[in-house]
Amino acid sequence: MADTLTVTDSRTGKQYVLPIEDGTIRAMDLRQIKKDGEDFGLMSYDPAFTNTAACRSRVTFIDGDKGVLMYRGYPIEQLAEHSDFLETAYLILFGELPQQKQYDDWARQITLHTMLHTNIAKLMEGFRHDAHPMGMFISTMGALSTFYPDAKEIFSEESRRLQTVRLIAKVPSISAYAFRHSIGRPFNQPDNDLSYAGNFLNMLFRMTELKFNAHPVLERALDVLFILHADHEQNCSTSVMRAIGSSHADPYSAIAGAAAALYGPLHGGANEAVLRMLHEIGSMQNVPAFIKRVKAGEGRLMGFGHRVYKSYDPRAKIIKRIADLVFDVTGKNPLLDMALELERIALEDEYFVSRKLYPNVDFYSGLIYQAMGFPVDMFPVLFAIPRTAGWIAQWEEMLTDPDQKIARPRQIYVGPTQRPYVSKEKRR
Ligand SMILES: CC(C)(COP(=O)(O)OP(=O)(O)OC[C@H]1O[C@@H](n2cnc3c(N)ncnc32)[C@H](O)[C@@H]1OP(=O)(O)O)[C@@H](O)C(=O)NCCC(=O)NCCS
Repeated sequence: MADTLTVTDSRTGKQYVLPIEDGTIRAMDLRQIKKDGEDFGLMSYDPAFTNTAACRSRVTFIDGDKGVLMYRGYPIEQLAEHSDFLETAYLILFGELPQQKQYDDWARQITLHTMLHTNIAKLMEGFRHDAHPMGMFISTMGALSTFYPDAKEIFSEESRRLQTVRLIAKVPSISAYAFRHSIGRPFNQPDNDLSYAGNFLNMLFRMTELKFNAHPVLERALDVLFILHADHEQNCSTSVMRAIGSSHADPYSAIAGAAAALYGPLHGGANEAVLRMLHEIGSMQNVPAFIKRVKAGEGRLMGFGHRVYKSYDPRAKIIKRIADLVFDVTGKNPLLDMALELERIALEDEYFVSRKLYPNVDFYSGLIYQAMGFPVDMFPVLFAIPRTAGWIAQWEEMLTDPDQKIARPRQIYVGPTQRPYVSKEKRR
């Protein structure tokens, strides 16, 4: 017998049997529960969608209590160990790990699309010298839709594939241009001989040398960080991507919106906030007083806690290992000792333990990025580059899902009831 939920409406005494499928009831099944013929029907109230599944997805699986993260069924630990970002992006986008020839074709296509139209460079030159790189990233993403009007053909598989290649290829170039603009240096052209992460580092940091070769440890560290950030199921920015995409906007416009969501300190800005917090604390001796203030509700321990992970974020474990390798090359980030002390205290303290607040992916990523030479303003951009793969995969899944429609949540209206217009002189 199929699973069901029986609901008795105390207002009418009527009973309703609602089917349970995949551990959910359909919110629309509640609509039949009415007080009388005039009644609109029952809705569910779920601000911030904390307990509402808005889609079926095959991309990413998270078990927040157990600290599990998998892309298309492959555990994140195995991908971080054996894969590279381009292969992981292929897996996320197309569902399977590529065979050698598929991988080679994919990598070649990406390499062929890394260059930016010269007018994009001109557009980016128009920003103020101190413009935040994430602001530049968001605006340039939106502008890309005007360069590729064919992207509006969202129901053409061929067009979607072309935009996918363009996007994965161009996000590092746009990000590097934003960085170079903010430090007043000329833009570096991509180098097709290099890996995805290696070429990105080349576009960021090459000065007068004819060939730039990043330190292999740093190149690999950045690639693994890209793998860890490639998707994270229905988070804030991905929900925005799906919501904008549901109105059939082109993918560049949708990504501009998703990136804007990522910009916020509670999402992609968290690692920047971690570093600001560490600078604010200043020294080891101030750590206990800072923890006391957090426990008194006067601020948060940034990089701790997560909407879904109620145990150690599996990505944070991998990042901690990478941090050691990076610091061997770059020298230790002086803020690291303070971060380790904060973690040590928080993992023993009843306040954090009882609320299941553990370090998340952002707690250490900022320290690594800073040690590699990135200014804090670049952190959300470094998140947006790999997340582009996840956004596109989720967007495509939404477009091809017959269950989906334009996203349109409901509300409970709590404003004034109808009242007559009052002229200016009579207003109190
Ligand atoms: C990520 C985050 C937004 C998730 O929030 P959430 O699941 O909605 O959790 P809530 O805001 O409901 O918090 C639950 C409780 O833990 C506390 N809490 C959550 N995160 C905390 C933090 N980082 N420091 C101190 N207390 C925290 C809240 O004050 C609340 O306590 P209360 O029950 O006494 O009121 C939140 O943990 C946070 O702000 N973390 C810091 C920012 C960050 O690192 N974001 C990156 C996410 S990848």
